[in-house]
Amino acid sequence: MKITAVRTHLLEHRLDVPFESASMRFDRRSHVLVEVECDDGTTGWGECLGPARANAAVVASYAPWLIGQDPLATERLWAVLYNALRDQGQRGLAVTALSGIDIALWDIKGKVLGQPVSVLLGGRWREKVRAYATGSFKRDGVDRVQDNADEMAQRRAEGFHACKIKIGFGVEEDLRVIRAVREAIGPDMRLMIDANHGYTLAEAIRVGRAAADLDIDWFEEPVVPEQISAYAAVRAGQPIPVAGGETWHSRWGMWPAIEARAVDILQPDLCGCGGFSEAQKIATLASLHGVRVVPHVWGTGVQIAAALQFMAAMVPDPVRVNPVEPIMEFDRTHNPFRQAILRRPIEAEAGVVAIPDGPGLGIEVDRDALREYRMKDA
Ligand code: NI
Ligand code: CA
Repeated sequence: MKITAVRTHLLEHRLDVPFESASMRFDRRSHVLVEVECDDGTTGWGECLGPARANAAVVASYAPWLIGQDPLATERLWAVLYNALRDQGQRGLAVTALSGIDIALWDIKGKVLGQPVSVLLGGRWREKVRAYATGSFKRDGVDRVQDNADEMAQRRAEGFHACKIKIGFGVEEDLRVIRAVREAIGPDMRLMIDANHGYTLAEAIRVGRAAADLDIDWFEEPVVPEQISAYAAVRAGQPIPVAGGETWHSRWGMWPAIEARAVDILQPDLCGCGGFSEAQKIATLASLHGVRVVPHVWGTGVQIAAALQFMAAMVPDPVRVNPVEPIMEFDRTHNPFRQAILRRPIEAEAGVVAIPDGPGLGIEVDRDALREYRMKDA
């Protein structure tokens, strides 16, 4: 069996109401899928986290090392591709593009062997996961405090057990938002805060101390990801568990943060950290130091499916009668193609997501939807 083609599909939807995280403004949703085709007609799907066109260019530059190769040799191909860009790569787009390819190869492997990827990763510990709702971005012309409180009250009504809100815009207003949301969702729903690396170290510590009595499960990306020692200082300087890692790539990118005990919760993104091949290694590194792994998810149904397959196979740490279960990040912001590109979209029902059990990623991509949401001039 040989790889015959490597394609990318650029998808885009313009937003009527733009929104912002602390570090980025969104006036459109754009994502890139990777499709790997083999000589027997089997195709595998993957997705890359981050800028769609830039990822597509790097995927294309990897293609010559893939054409004619055995798609089942996932570990070998990962090493060959990583090495191809190593001298000028090592992280960032070099690894996010590789992630999409690796996921597509695992999808192929699952289809060829007739098993879901989770079985190939070691077996399914669970058939469903609880989802937490991500939202609460800053929307143009809207009062954040009321908007976020209303939105998260709605997530509670939909059955989500937990939600994550966006901060990092300014300490005082952020604290008003966190208090208003906690009041709106009540004492039982779990609440996480995500600064999208918008704070200085001093601001992060101030917010963490002031919000500590609001029962926050984690404080995500308090400071910029390059500042590993500042992460550790946030951990030491305030009581909320610290999370991060969606922009750290590969085992080598995660290792300094794990070793420095910079985070309590590590958030590798399957479509950014290096795909299934690398996420397994990262989870092993995290377990050496008692760091909890909660994958980051921000993409289409392909990424959601990849995260679910990985989560299905995650071994509880520790294994015990009533283990700490993984939870699934479920983006609730406007993106019509997130679900539309799957023949059977993956939805949360009462805050719970069933993990597909078909071969590979367990999904079927709808090519009509790919055409409908194709990026202009792509
Ligand atoms: Ni729209
Ligand atoms: Ca985040």
